[in-house]
Amino acid sequence: TTVEWEAESYDMGGHDTYMHKEISEQADAVDRVLRGRIDDRFSTVHLGGLNLDAREARGVRRIKILGCGTSYHAGMIGAGLIEELARIPADAEPASEFRYRNPVVDPDTLYVAVSQSGETYDVLAAVQELKRKGARVLGVVNVVGSAIAREADGGMYVHAGPEVCVVSTKCFTNTVVAFALLALHLGRIRDLSVADGKRIIDGLRRLPEQIGEILAAEDEIKKLAEEYAGAQSMMFIGRVRGYPVALEASLKLKEISYIHAEAYPASELKHGPLALIEPALPTVAIVPDDDLLEKNRAALEEIKARSGRILAVAHREQAKADHTIVVPKNENELDPILMGIPLQLLAYHTALAMGRDIDKPRNLAKSVTVE
Ligand code: G6P
Repeated sequence: TTVEWEAESYDMGGHDTYMHKEISEQADAVDRVLRGRIDDRFSTVHLGGLNLDAREARGVRRIKILGCGTSYHAGMIGAGLIEELARIPADAEPASEFRYRNPVVDPDTLYVAVSQSGETYDVLAAVQELKRKGARVLGVVNVVGSAIAREADGGMYVHAGPEVCVVSTKCFTNTVVAFALLALHLGRIRDLSVADGKRIIDGLRRLPEQIGEILAAEDEIKKLAEEYAGAQSMMFIGRVRGYPVALEASLKLKEISYIHAEAYPASELKHGPLALIEPALPTVAIVPDDDLLEKNRAALEEIKARSGRILAVAHREQAKADHTIVVPKNENELDPILMGIPLQLLAYHTALAMGRDIDKPRNLAKSVTVE
Protein backbone atom coordinates (compact mmCIF):
# COMPACT_ATOMS: atom_id res chain seq x y z
CA THR A 1 0.00 0.00 0.00
CA THR A 2 0.99 3.62 -0.45
CA VAL A 3 1.76 4.22 3.20
CA GLU A 4 4.29 1.37 3.42
CA TRP A 5 5.80 2.40 0.12
CA GLU A 6 6.45 5.89 1.43
CA ALA A 7 7.79 4.63 4.76
CA GLU A 8 10.66 3.02 2.86
CA SER A 9 11.72 6.22 1.23
CA TYR A 10 14.37 7.10 -1.32
CA ASP A 11 16.54 8.35 1.50
CA MET A 12 19.79 6.38 1.82
CA GLY A 13 19.16 5.99 5.52
CA GLY A 14 22.78 5.95 6.64
CA HIS A 15 23.98 3.49 3.99
CA ASP A 16 26.75 4.43 1.54
CA THR A 17 24.94 3.02 -1.46
CA TYR A 18 21.40 2.13 -2.42
CA MET A 19 22.53 -1.41 -3.09
CA HIS A 20 23.65 -1.83 0.50
CA LYS A 21 20.44 -0.28 1.76
CA GLU A 22 18.34 -2.54 -0.43
CA ILE A 23 20.23 -5.70 0.54
CA SER A 24 19.72 -4.85 4.18
CA GLU A 25 15.96 -4.26 3.72
CA GLN A 26 15.24 -7.81 2.65
CA ALA A 27 13.82 -9.21 5.88
CA ASP A 28 11.20 -6.44 5.97
CA ALA A 29 10.55 -6.79 2.25
CA VAL A 30 9.85 -10.51 2.55
CA ASP A 31 7.59 -9.84 5.49
CA ARG A 32 5.63 -7.49 3.23
CA VAL A 33 5.15 -9.93 0.35
CA LEU A 34 3.76 -12.49 2.81
CA ARG A 35 1.56 -10.09 4.75
CA GLY A 36 -2.18 -10.65 4.47
CA ARG A 37 -1.83 -13.54 2.04
CA ILE A 38 -1.47 -16.63 4.25
CA ASP A 39 -4.56 -18.67 5.04
CA ASP A 40 -3.72 -21.03 7.92
CA ARG A 41 -7.14 -22.63 7.95
CA PHE A 42 -6.68 -24.19 4.52
CA SER A 43 -2.85 -24.15 4.52
CA THR A 44 -2.83 -22.02 1.41
CA VAL A 45 -2.45 -18.41 0.32
CA HIS A 46 -4.88 -15.88 -1.11
CA LEU A 47 -3.79 -14.02 -4.19
CA GLY A 48 -6.69 -11.76 -4.94
CA GLY A 49 -5.32 -10.20 -8.09
CA LEU A 50 -4.67 -13.36 -10.09
CA ASN A 51 -8.11 -13.31 -11.73
CA LEU A 52 -7.88 -17.06 -12.03
CA ASP A 53 -10.53 -19.11 -10.27
CA ALA A 54 -9.95 -22.63 -8.96
CA ARG A 55 -11.58 -24.25 -11.98
CA GLU A 56 -9.40 -22.25 -14.36
CA ALA A 57 -6.30 -22.98 -12.27
CA ARG A 58 -7.00 -26.69 -12.56
CA GLY A 59 -7.19 -26.35 -16.32
CA VAL A 60 -3.64 -24.98 -16.62
CA ARG A 61 -1.46 -27.62 -18.32
CA ARG A 62 1.79 -25.73 -18.51
CA ILE A 63 3.34 -22.50 -17.21
CA LYS A 64 5.75 -20.37 -19.18
CA ILE A 65 7.60 -17.62 -17.34
CA LEU A 66 9.15 -14.67 -19.21
CA GLY A 67 11.56 -12.01 -17.97
CA CYS A 68 14.96 -10.40 -18.52
CA GLY A 69 18.14 -10.31 -16.46
CA THR A 70 17.60 -10.85 -12.76
CA SER A 71 13.86 -11.22 -13.24
CA TYR A 72 14.51 -14.10 -15.64
CA HIS A 73 16.61 -15.81 -12.96
CA ALA A 74 13.87 -15.28 -10.37
CA GLY A 75 11.49 -16.83 -12.91
CA MET A 76 13.74 -19.89 -13.25
CA ILE A 77 13.53 -20.49 -9.50
CA GLY A 78 9.79 -19.82 -9.75
CA ALA A 79 9.41 -22.49 -12.44
CA GLY A 80 11.18 -24.98 -10.17
CA LEU A 81 8.87 -24.11 -7.27
CA ILE A 82 5.77 -24.51 -9.45
CA GLU A 83 6.92 -27.92 -10.67
CA GLU A 84 7.78 -29.09 -7.17
CA LEU A 85 4.73 -27.81 -5.32
CA ALA A 86 2.02 -27.78 -7.98
CA ARG A 87 3.40 -30.48 -10.33
CA ILE A 88 2.59 -28.33 -13.34
CA PRO A 89 5.31 -28.41 -16.03
CA ALA A 90 6.94 -24.98 -15.95
CA ASP A 91 9.95 -23.25 -17.38
CA ALA A 92 11.39 -19.76 -17.77
CA GLU A 93 12.80 -18.14 -20.87
CA PRO A 94 14.30 -14.71 -21.60
CA ALA A 95 11.39 -12.63 -22.90
CA SER A 96 13.28 -11.49 -25.99
CA GLU A 97 14.20 -15.03 -27.05
CA PHE A 98 10.58 -16.04 -26.69
CA ARG A 99 9.27 -13.21 -28.74
CA TYR A 100 11.68 -13.53 -31.65
CA ARG A 101 11.19 -17.25 -32.20
CA ASN A 102 7.53 -17.18 -33.20
CA PRO A 103 6.53 -19.32 -30.22
CA VAL A 104 3.69 -21.81 -30.24
CA VAL A 105 1.03 -20.14 -28.11
CA ASP A 106 -1.08 -22.76 -26.44
CA PRO A 107 -4.49 -22.03 -24.88
CA ASP A 108 -3.84 -24.35 -21.89
CA THR A 109 -0.59 -22.63 -21.01
CA LEU A 110 -0.53 -19.87 -18.41
CA TYR A 111 2.05 -17.20 -19.21
CA VAL A 112 3.73 -15.22 -16.44
CA ALA A 113 5.64 -12.00 -17.15
CA VAL A 114 8.19 -11.03 -14.47
CA SER A 115 9.57 -7.52 -14.13
CA GLN A 116 10.75 -5.31 -11.31
CA SER A 117 10.03 -2.08 -13.17
CA GLY A 118 7.07 -3.39 -15.14
CA GLU A 119 8.41 -1.36 -18.07
CA THR A 120 11.08 -3.55 -19.71
CA TYR A 121 10.35 -3.37 -23.41
CA ASP A 122 11.14 -6.97 -24.32
CA VAL A 123 8.82 -8.24 -21.60
CA LEU A 124 6.04 -5.80 -22.47
CA ALA A 125 6.27 -6.69 -26.17
CA ALA A 126 6.06 -10.41 -25.32
CA VAL A 127 2.97 -9.75 -23.20
CA GLN A 128 1.32 -7.76 -25.99
CA GLU A 129 2.07 -10.48 -28.55
CA LEU A 130 0.66 -13.15 -26.23
CA LYS A 131 -2.50 -11.17 -25.61
CA ARG A 132 -2.98 -10.57 -29.31
CA LYS A 133 -2.92 -14.36 -29.72
CA GLY A 134 -5.51 -14.85 -26.99
CA ALA A 135 -3.26 -16.20 -24.25
CA ARG A 136 -3.78 -15.58 -20.54
CA VAL A 137 -0.91 -13.61 -19.04
CA LEU A 138 -0.18 -12.90 -15.38
CA GLY A 139 2.25 -10.25 -14.19
CA VAL A 140 4.68 -10.65 -11.28
CA VAL A 141 5.72 -7.03 -10.93
CA ASN A 142 7.14 -4.66 -8.33
CA VAL A 143 6.13 -1.22 -9.56
CA VAL A 144 2.42 -0.70 -8.98
CA GLY A 145 0.47 0.50 -12.01
CA SER A 146 3.39 -0.04 -14.42
CA ALA A 147 2.86 -0.92 -18.08
CA ILE A 148 3.18 -4.71 -17.66
CA ALA A 149 0.92 -4.68 -14.59
CA ARG A 150 -1.72 -2.81 -16.60
CA GLU A 151 -1.40 -5.01 -19.68
CA ALA A 152 -1.60 -8.37 -17.83
CA ASP A 153 -4.89 -10.19 -17.17
CA GLY A 154 -4.01 -10.40 -13.48
CA GLY A 155 -1.07 -11.10 -11.27
CA MET A 156 0.66 -10.26 -8.06
CA TYR A 157 2.70 -7.39 -6.80
CA VAL A 158 5.93 -8.38 -5.09
CA HIS A 159 5.93 -5.42 -2.66
CA ALA A 160 9.72 -5.06 -2.47
CA GLY A 161 9.38 -1.28 -2.15
CA PRO A 162 11.34 1.15 -4.31
CA GLU A 163 14.57 -0.25 -5.71
CA VAL A 164 17.00 2.43 -6.85
CA CYS A 165 20.32 0.63 -7.44
CA VAL A 166 20.60 -0.48 -11.07
CA VAL A 167 21.15 -4.10 -10.04
CA SER A 168 18.29 -5.87 -8.36
CA THR A 169 18.61 -7.48 -4.93
CA LYS A 170 15.60 -7.18 -2.66
CA CYS A 171 13.23 -7.35 -5.61
CA PHE A 172 14.86 -10.60 -6.75
CA THR A 173 14.31 -12.14 -3.33
CA ASN A 174 10.73 -10.91 -3.10
CA THR A 175 9.94 -12.12 -6.61
CA VAL A 176 11.10 -15.61 -5.71
CA VAL A 177 8.97 -15.52 -2.55
CA ALA A 178 6.02 -14.35 -4.66
CA PHE A 179 6.55 -17.39 -6.90
CA ALA A 180 6.61 -19.63 -3.82
CA LEU A 181 3.19 -18.20 -2.92
CA LEU A 182 1.87 -18.77 -6.43
CA ALA A 183 3.23 -22.34 -6.44
CA LEU A 184 1.67 -23.02 -3.03
CA HIS A 185 -1.66 -21.59 -4.15
CA LEU A 186 -1.71 -23.68 -7.34
CA GLY A 187 -0.43 -26.72 -5.45
CA ARG A 188 -3.18 -26.57 -2.84
CA ILE A 189 -5.82 -26.34 -5.58
CA ARG A 190 -4.30 -29.49 -7.06
CA ASP A 191 -2.40 -32.27 -5.24
CA LEU A 192 -0.29 -30.62 -2.56
CA SER A 193 -1.37 -32.01 0.82
CA VAL A 194 -2.49 -29.92 3.79
CA ALA A 195 0.63 -31.09 5.65
CA ASP A 196 2.95 -30.01 2.85
CA GLY A 197 1.09 -26.72 2.52
CA LYS A 198 1.61 -26.11 6.22
CA ARG A 199 5.27 -27.13 5.99
CA ILE A 200 5.86 -24.54 3.24
CA ILE A 201 3.92 -21.83 5.11
CA ASP A 202 5.99 -22.45 8.25
CA GLY A 203 9.12 -22.25 6.11
CA LEU A 204 8.03 -18.97 4.53
CA ARG A 205 7.40 -17.51 7.98
CA ARG A 206 10.96 -18.37 9.05
CA LEU A 207 12.50 -16.49 6.12
CA PRO A 208 12.70 -12.93 7.55
CA GLU A 209 14.53 -14.06 10.67
CA GLN A 210 16.90 -16.29 8.68
CA ILE A 211 17.63 -13.41 6.30
CA GLY A 212 18.57 -11.37 9.36
CA GLU A 213 21.03 -14.10 10.41
CA ILE A 214 22.67 -14.11 6.98
CA LEU A 215 23.01 -10.33 6.92
CA ALA A 216 24.56 -10.39 10.40
CA ALA A 217 27.52 -12.31 8.91
CA GLU A 218 28.40 -9.42 6.60
CA ASP A 219 31.87 -8.84 8.09
CA GLU A 220 32.90 -12.41 7.37
CA ILE A 221 31.65 -12.13 3.77
CA LYS A 222 33.45 -8.81 3.37
CA LYS A 223 36.76 -10.46 4.30
CA LEU A 224 36.18 -13.20 1.75
CA ALA A 225 35.28 -10.63 -0.91
CA GLU A 226 38.53 -8.77 -0.33
CA GLU A 227 40.34 -12.03 -0.92
CA TYR A 228 38.53 -12.74 -4.18
CA ALA A 229 38.61 -9.17 -5.50
CA GLY A 230 41.84 -9.84 -7.39
CA ALA A 231 40.38 -12.65 -9.51
CA GLN A 232 40.26 -12.24 -13.30
CA SER A 233 37.36 -14.59 -13.60
CA MET A 234 35.08 -16.67 -11.38
CA MET A 235 33.02 -19.81 -11.87
CA PHE A 236 29.63 -20.38 -10.21
CA ILE A 237 28.07 -23.83 -10.01
CA GLY A 238 24.85 -25.30 -8.68
CA ARG A 239 22.42 -28.07 -9.42
CA VAL A 240 18.65 -27.97 -9.99
CA ARG A 241 17.52 -25.58 -7.20
CA GLY A 242 21.04 -24.21 -6.94
CA TYR A 243 21.67 -23.57 -10.63
CA PRO A 244 19.58 -20.37 -10.99
CA VAL A 245 21.16 -19.18 -7.72
CA ALA A 246 24.57 -19.64 -9.39
CA LEU A 247 23.38 -17.79 -12.51
CA GLU A 248 22.10 -14.86 -10.51
CA ALA A 249 25.20 -14.66 -8.29
CA SER A 250 27.41 -14.67 -11.37
CA LEU A 251 25.33 -11.93 -13.01
CA LYS A 252 25.47 -9.80 -9.86
CA LEU A 253 29.26 -10.11 -9.64
CA LYS A 254 29.87 -9.23 -13.29
CA GLU A 255 27.39 -6.33 -13.28
CA ILE A 256 29.01 -4.41 -10.45
CA SER A 257 32.63 -5.63 -10.20
CA TYR A 258 33.24 -6.22 -13.96
CA ILE A 259 34.98 -9.49 -13.05
CA HIS A 260 34.22 -12.07 -15.71
CA ALA A 261 31.97 -14.76 -14.27
CA GLU A 262 30.19 -17.78 -15.64
CA ALA A 263 27.59 -20.07 -14.16
CA TYR A 264 27.22 -23.74 -14.97
CA PRO A 265 25.12 -26.61 -13.74
CA ALA A 266 27.59 -28.58 -11.58
CA SER A 267 27.20 -31.70 -13.71
CA GLU A 268 28.16 -29.80 -16.88
CA LEU A 269 31.64 -29.02 -15.53
CA LYS A 270 33.03 -32.25 -16.93
CA HIS A 271 31.64 -31.44 -20.37
CA GLY A 272 33.94 -28.49 -20.89
CA PRO A 273 34.53 -25.87 -18.21
CA LEU A 274 36.66 -28.24 -16.12
CA ALA A 275 39.41 -27.37 -18.60
CA LEU A 276 39.48 -23.86 -17.10
CA ILE A 277 39.97 -24.95 -13.50
CA GLU A 278 43.31 -23.91 -12.00
CA PRO A 279 44.31 -22.02 -8.83
CA ALA A 280 43.67 -18.63 -10.44
CA LEU A 281 40.00 -19.40 -11.21
CA PRO A 282 37.96 -19.59 -8.01
CA THR A 283 34.65 -21.45 -7.98
CA VAL A 284 31.62 -20.50 -5.93
CA ALA A 285 29.55 -23.63 -5.30
CA ILE A 286 25.95 -23.78 -4.08
CA VAL A 287 25.78 -26.85 -1.83
CA PRO A 288 22.42 -27.24 -0.08
CA ASP A 289 21.75 -30.04 2.38
CA ASP A 290 19.23 -31.76 0.17
CA ASP A 291 18.96 -34.95 -1.89
CA LEU A 292 21.80 -33.74 -4.15
CA LEU A 293 24.34 -33.07 -1.40
CA GLU A 294 26.56 -36.05 -2.27
CA LYS A 295 26.48 -35.17 -5.98
CA ASN A 296 27.54 -31.63 -5.19
CA ARG A 297 30.34 -32.85 -2.96
CA ALA A 298 31.63 -34.96 -5.84
CA ALA A 299 31.84 -31.80 -7.96
CA LEU A 300 33.87 -30.10 -5.22
CA GLU A 301 36.27 -33.04 -5.30
CA GLU A 302 36.68 -32.76 -9.06
CA ILE A 303 37.58 -29.09 -8.68
CA LYS A 304 39.92 -29.70 -5.75
CA ALA A 305 41.71 -32.43 -7.72
CA ARG A 306 42.59 -29.70 -10.27
CA SER A 307 43.82 -27.33 -7.54
CA GLY A 308 40.84 -25.01 -7.91
CA ARG A 309 39.93 -22.70 -5.04
CA ILE A 310 36.39 -23.20 -3.74
CA LEU A 311 34.00 -20.97 -1.84
CA ALA A 312 30.93 -22.98 -0.83
CA VAL A 313 27.55 -21.61 0.19
CA ALA A 314 26.13 -24.47 2.23
CA HIS A 315 24.17 -25.50 5.29
CA ARG A 316 27.31 -26.82 7.01
CA GLU A 317 31.08 -26.59 6.57
CA GLN A 318 32.31 -28.33 3.42
CA ALA A 319 35.62 -30.11 3.93
CA LYS A 320 36.63 -29.78 0.28
CA ALA A 321 36.00 -26.05 0.17
CA ASP A 322 38.60 -23.43 1.08
CA HIS A 323 35.84 -21.37 2.68
CA THR A 324 32.22 -22.11 3.51
CA ILE A 325 29.54 -19.52 4.06
CA VAL A 326 27.04 -21.34 6.24
CA VAL A 327 23.42 -20.26 5.72
CA PRO A 328 20.38 -21.31 7.81
CA LYS A 329 18.46 -24.33 6.52
CA ASN A 330 14.84 -24.00 5.50
CA GLU A 331 12.57 -26.42 3.62
CA ASN A 332 14.43 -27.82 0.61
CA GLU A 333 12.11 -26.05 -1.83
CA LEU A 334 12.76 -22.67 -0.19
CA ASP A 335 16.54 -22.99 0.16
CA PRO A 336 17.30 -21.04 -3.06
CA ILE A 337 15.68 -17.94 -1.54
CA LEU A 338 18.31 -17.78 1.19
CA MET A 339 21.39 -19.10 -0.60
CA GLY A 340 21.61 -16.15 -2.99
CA ILE A 341 21.69 -13.49 -0.27
CA PRO A 342 25.30 -13.95 0.94
CA LEU A 343 26.36 -13.81 -2.70
CA GLN A 344 24.73 -10.40 -3.11
CA LEU A 345 26.99 -9.26 -0.29
CA LEU A 346 29.98 -11.01 -1.85
CA ALA A 347 29.42 -9.16 -5.15
CA TYR A 348 28.87 -5.92 -3.26
CA HIS A 349 32.06 -6.09 -1.21
CA THR A 350 34.11 -7.32 -4.15
CA ALA A 351 32.99 -4.31 -6.20
CA LEU A 352 33.58 -2.00 -3.24
CA ALA A 353 37.12 -3.33 -2.76
CA MET A 354 37.71 -2.63 -6.47
CA GLY A 355 36.40 0.93 -6.20
CA ARG A 356 33.47 0.47 -8.59
CA ASP A 357 30.45 2.74 -8.94
CA ILE A 358 28.10 0.24 -7.37
CA ASP A 359 24.72 1.92 -7.80
CA LYS A 360 25.41 2.92 -11.41
CA PRO A 361 27.55 0.31 -13.15
CA ARG A 362 28.91 1.30 -16.55
CA ASN A 363 26.81 0.55 -19.65
CA LEU A 364 23.73 -0.54 -17.70
CA ALA A 365 20.33 1.00 -16.98
CA LYS A 366 17.80 0.23 -14.28
CA SER A 367 15.08 -0.40 -16.80
CA VAL A 368 15.53 -0.94 -20.49
CA THR A 369 12.50 0.52 -22.22
CA VAL A 370 13.87 0.18 -25.73
CA GLU A 371 14.32 -2.86 -27.96
C1 G6P B 1 18.01 -4.21 -16.74
C2 G6P B 1 18.63 -4.13 -15.36
C3 G6P B 1 18.63 -5.52 -14.70
C4 G6P B 1 17.22 -6.08 -14.68
C5 G6P B 1 16.62 -6.13 -16.09
C6 G6P B 1 15.14 -6.47 -16.07
O1 G6P B 1 18.84 -4.91 -17.60
O2 G6P B 1 19.95 -3.65 -15.44
O3 G6P B 1 19.11 -5.41 -13.37
O4 G6P B 1 17.23 -7.35 -14.11
O5 G6P B 1 16.73 -4.85 -16.71
O6 G6P B 1 14.44 -5.43 -15.42
P1 G6P B 1 12.97 -5.58 -14.90
O7 G6P B 1 12.60 -4.21 -14.42
O8 G6P B 1 12.12 -6.02 -16.05
O9 G6P B 1 12.98 -6.61 -13.83
